[in-house]
Amino acid sequence: MNKKNILTGDRPTGRLHLGHYFGSLKQRVMLQEEYNTYIIIADVQALTDNFENPEKVRKNIREVVLDNLASGIDPKKTIIFVQSMIPQIAELTVFYSNLVTVSRLYRNPTIKTEIGQKQHLFGSGGESVTYGFLGYPVSQAADITAFDGALIPVGEDQIPLIEQTKEIVRKFNRIYGDTLVEPEYMVGSNSRIKGLDGNEKMGKSLGNAIYLSDDEETISKKIMSAITDTNKIKKDDKGNPDNCMVYYYHKLVSSNNLETINKECRNGSRGCVSCKKELIENMINFLKPMQERRKYYEDRPELVDEILQNGTSKALEKAEEVMKRVRKNMKIDYFS
Ligand code: TRP
Repeated sequence: MNKKNILTGDRPTGRLHLGHYFGSLKQRVMLQEEYNTYIIIADVQALTDNFENPEKVRKNIREVVLDNLASGIDPKKTIIFVQSMIPQIAELTVFYSNLVTVSRLYRNPTIKTEIGQKQHLFGSGGESVTYGFLGYPVSQAADITAFDGALIPVGEDQIPLIEQTKEIVRKFNRIYGDTLVEPEYMVGSNSRIKGLDGNEKMGKSLGNAIYLSDDEETISKKIMSAITDTNKIKKDDKGNPDNCMVYYYHKLVSSNNLETINKECRNGSRGCVSCKKELIENMINFLKPMQERRKYYEDRPELVDEILQNGTSKALEKAEEVMKRVRKNMKIDYFS
């Protein structure tokens, strides 16, 4: 039986953090055993709001590849490639843009939120939003369909983008005949994790993230400053772990000892400082295997180049196969 394809990926705008790990990386690592997996390093998409910082995007391509490999992506099983090196994606984006209205793009919840967050770029009411940024959901639909992506493991914030892809696929297939695979998204059970400060989202720009590559000192400092139950002031005060970011992270990385932690916090036999120290140790141990893998690849830059180049040439082959189908069904396959 033919394996189904997974297509997912990241924007190369910085190193990846625990939010990315629990939102998507963890799932893709598990699923790579059962599916043909394609991981896109979405540099074209990163440029839609970093068009003035091409150096930043360029530099982070490698970081994002390293974070994927560190998480356990096996380059023998999984194809990792660079978006801008696949011209078929740009080609599909142009054709799909006929199938999407501008008002539908403005109503996309992810786009709406992001325009609101990027006032420095797009104006306080979004009046200076670019055509490219507004249209990136169309380009993301091209990313997915160019590889017959059937399953898309992503964080919760990406759901509206996959919904929009599904709409484009249905419209395309209705007009031009059955051509494209309609994808389904998959979100992990911890698909959105909170920041160290208790913010609903862990984010690079929010300064509340633990990165997969943070060293021990950085992890310690960040965890020591995490928000705990504000009613627990003295060491032996009774606390409520449900109002505590330290317990929240214990739940992610301290599964062996959770009940004790919870009980001791509630009955006042556990101080926040020692609780934080325990979390620091568990967090370091949780990240250690990833950091060892990262180091292995960091020490072998030519191997990383090779992984990306091989991945990109395999991705090109697949995208061209899909593109042939598209050209034929759109009746623009003039000389074949
Ligand atoms: N939008 C995703 C993010 O910001 C990155 C991405 C680009 C993506 N193309 C994709 C994710 C296709 C899933 C499928 O993280």
